[in-house]
Amino acid sequence: MRTKIIAGNWKMNMTGTAALDLIEAVKREVADVGKVEVVVCPPFTELKAAAAACAGSNVMLGAQNVHWAEAGAFTGEISAAMLQSAGVKYVIIGHSERRQYFGETDETVNKRAKAALAAGLIPIVCVGETLEERDDGRMEDVVVRQTKAGLDGLGADISRIVIAYEPVWAIGTGRTATPAQAQEVHALIRRTLCETVGGDVANGIRIQYGGSMKPENAKELLSQPDIDGGLIGGAALKAESFAAIIKAGV
Ligand code: PGA
Repeated sequence: MRTKIIAGNWKMNMTGTAALDLIEAVKREVADVGKVEVVVCPPFTELKAAAAACAGSNVMLGAQNVHWAEAGAFTGEISAAMLQSAGVKYVIIGHSERRQYFGETDETVNKRAKAALAAGLIPIVCVGETLEERDDGRMEDVVVRQTKAGLDGLGADISRIVIAYEPVWAIGTGRTATPAQAQEVHALIRRTLCETVGGDVANGIRIQYGGSMKPENAKELLSQPDIDGGLIGGAALKAESFAAIIKAGV
């Protein structure tokens, strides 16, 4: 019912030819893969060239952040309209690295999501607890708060968003949540959505898992009932491993 969506979060990696070579290799690997949405999210500087490389293929383009204002005196920021004009369709919002290192809050996540939707982009809104929060028994509180606050007031547009559950302790650590641990939180997020927007809408929203997803664990994670895709960091930087994860989702 929900089309799986696998997105590669390249973070601050890849320039010029290396970026284009990776896109070309991903295109070749996934040319015949139906039924799964494939997204790559290069750094801002590579977006225009990446858009040209993705054109006409089944690989779609995402960015890694967006500012909420339409335009103006915000040195160093990128607006939703700029992403649109660069050929971007998806945008990652509220990644834990932005929350941790760049002062991202539930409020700014919410503003960015609204701006992205208003410009016709699809936000991939990230939520997830730290190890300390999990160990203190606060995982539920944190995930429910981030989900509710981040998605507050989106109106009917909420049906277009994608959510990524990324336990911070699993990102880039090689330590993946078990399929049961991930499913438990995905179901919690879905229940939270049900309470706020009703079952019909909630059941259509895709929830990706992120955090050390790799070819070896992708199939089991992606076969959980509420896991609708993956947000992939390290394993998205090589076409073979990224494609293997995508194929595990078919
Ligand atoms: P990882 O990163 O796959 O390298 O753990 C995932 C992410 O940060 O989105």
